[in-house]
Order: sequence, then C-alpha cells, then structure tokens
Amino acid sequence: MTDIWTPLATDTLQLPHRLAMAPMTRSRAKPDGTPGDLAALYYTQRAGMGLLITEGTQPSDDGQGYLATPGIYTDAHVAGWRKVTDAVHDAGGRLFLQLMHVGRRAHPDNTPHHRQPVAPSAIAPGDDMFTMTGMQPVPEPRALTPAEVEQTVADFAHAARRAIEAGADGVEIHGANGYLVHQFLAPNANHRTDQYGGSMENRARFAIEVVRAVADAIGPERTAIRLSPGVPTGGIAEGTDNDDLYRYLATAFGTMGLAYLHLLFVRGEDPLLGDLRGLFRGTLVLNRPGRQREQIGADVAAGLADIEALGMMALANPDLTARLKTGAPLNAARPALFYAGGGAEGYTDYPTLDAA
Ligand SMILES: Cc1cc2nc3c(=O)[nH]c(=O)nc-3n(C[C@H](O)[C@H](O)[C@H](O)COP(=O)(O)O)c2cc1C
Repeated sequence: MTDIWTPLATDTLQLPHRLAMAPMTRSRAKPDGTPGDLAALYYTQRAGMGLLITEGTQPSDDGQGYLATPGIYTDAHVAGWRKVTDAVHDAGGRLFLQLMHVGRRAHPDNTPHHRQPVAPSAIAPGDDMFTMTGMQPVPEPRALTPAEVEQTVADFAHAARRAIEAGADGVEIHGANGYLVHQFLAPNANHRTDQYGGSMENRARFAIEVVRAVADAIGPERTAIRLSPGVPTGGIAEGTDNDDLYRYLATAFGTMGLAYLHLLFVRGEDPLLGDLRGLFRGTLVLNRPGRQREQIGADVAAGLADIEALGMMALANPDLTARLKTGAPLNAARPALFYAGGGAEGYTDYPTLDAA
C-alpha cells in the first residue's frame, strides 16, 4: 500500500516521500524584489520536505500587491533565486517557484510603479491590506484591456523562463486564493464581455492560456498550477455552481502532461475532490488547511492524492519529516512573525529537534 513515506517516481517528479511544503508568502524580500539574504537558509532548512513550493513570486511589476514579496523577472531576481536553488539542491531538495500575480489584491503603495492595480474587471475585492503606513482599503482596480491580457500571459511565460534560468525545478502558477487567475474564474470578480468573461469556457480561458504559455516556455513537465475551488479569500464568491468550471479545467490540464495539479481543498469529503482527481489523472498535490498530524497521510493512503502539502507545520518545523516519523513534538507557529519585515525571528530561528 502507498503511504506518505513511499517514494514517488513519475515521468515528471521523483520524490523521496509524499510530503511537500505549501507555498507561503514571508514578505522578507529586498526592495527591488530580490529574495532576502536569509531566503536560502530558510528554504534549505526545510529541504527535507520532498518538494518545496516557494512563496508567491510576482512575474511583473503589476503582479505585486503586498509589501516585500519577491519577483522573478529581472537579472537581479534571477541571481538572488539562484542562491536559493543552489543551496536547496546541495541539501538534496527540489524547488518549484510559485508564480503569483495578485491582480486586484494590491495596494499602489506596495508596488514598484505605484499604479492602479489591474484585474479582469473594475471591481474592488472589498478588503484591507497592510502597507508601510498601516492597514488601508484595497482600491478599485482597472480592467485589463485584451492586449494587456495577452501581455500578462506573456509575462507569466517570461517569468517561468527566468525561474528555470535561476535553477528552479519547475513553477507552480498561483490559480488559487482570490489572486488574478482565480479572479478570472469567479463570476463575481469577472464581468468581462469579451472572450475572457461570461461562459464557463470564457472564464477558464485565461488560466488555460497561462498554463499553456508556461508549458510551451519551460516544458509541461516543469509546469504546475494551484487551484482552490470555493475559497472565498479576496472577495471571491464561488459556490458549487462553479464546480463544472473546475471539472473543465482539470480535464483540460489533464491533457497537457503537467508536473502536478495542486488543490487547496476546503470542502471536506465533497465528491468534487475525487472528480477532479479522476479527470486530471496526473500527479495530484493536496493541501487541506488545518490538517492535524494524525490525519497526515490519510488522503494518500485513500488514493485521493499523490502528495500532501503542509504549510504552517513546515514553516514552524524545519525538520518536520523527522518529527512526524519519530512522533516527536512539533514547534508551534508564531503568526505574528509570518510577514514581519526582514528578520530571522520567526523565519530561520525555529529550532530543530537536535538544537532543542
Ligand atoms: C504565512 C502564510 C503565507 C501564505 N502565502 C501563500 C502564498 O504565497 N501562496 C499560496 O498559494 N498560499 C499561501 N498560503 C496558504 C498556504 O499555502 C496553505 O494553503 C495554508 O496555510 C493552509 O495549509 P496549512 O494548514 O497546512 O498551513 C499562505 C499561508 C500562510 C500561513
């Protein structure tokens, strides 16, 4: 029987076990978007997770929304990420870089060009965001023109090429959690009347074009996407009425030979999960928020997923796999320091078992 410690060997991924680190924004990049000096240490400490998925990383100036997130489109970004990937590979790990274009979830105070955010439609997400001057309402974005949609797809492909140049093993397109790709999928964020809005096929078009462009640029075996059906963050209102769109996407992605499909799934035992697995057919990475340690491995054992991604547990436990294997206690995460600008505290100072 396959369990969480069974190695994985597919055409696209070879992993020592079935645990991955979920992508987590840490807001410690330098002002120009280069990963901070401690990023290589942070990821290397966690290289024991079979697959590291990095923090969301913007593919362009427009793609940034939060303070101090890294980018992957300039020479400086590539040089900075190269230090991270070399260190992770030396430690025996693998790293997929998450490409995150935030779309409307941006504040001009946080971006390099300070321009109005862009989105499928001019609809504000209705929430607040942290900036240098404190919490501020997220402003209304402007709708991307058709030419700009095309340019944004090209920006993803360019960033993917640069990620490979920086030594990443692949990229994961962030299609979850209310960011740009998700904004196109959700009817309440996408009121477009062109070929990117309206019908299910039209709302799915941007996601499929981005995945195809990235796969053409770096190879489908190095391309992955994360989706989060029904997750309401960033003003998304998406009920089960959007399930057919996710089935449509899983079917489309299933024909492309991708490295994996990553689902952030919050709907418990809902049959949509099994449907998406069956339709996609390739490697499925599953993240169920708030998973307790005694539940880890259950989805792999049940055949619902090939890999389980863990976020906060991996953030707080650099030697998580050793702790899970031996039943050792876990460090608690310190949320107040998740994004705290800059330092090692709450970032690279979580103790290993040996240190403790
Ligand atoms: C500090 C923090 C930052 C996060 N940043 C991202 C991100 O950049 N991209 C993303 O797809 N998800 C992000 N997430 C969501 C996680 O990947 C994961 O889905 C969530 O933490 C639930 O899983 P967990 O209970 O195992 O932590 C973030 C979560 C946390 C706690």
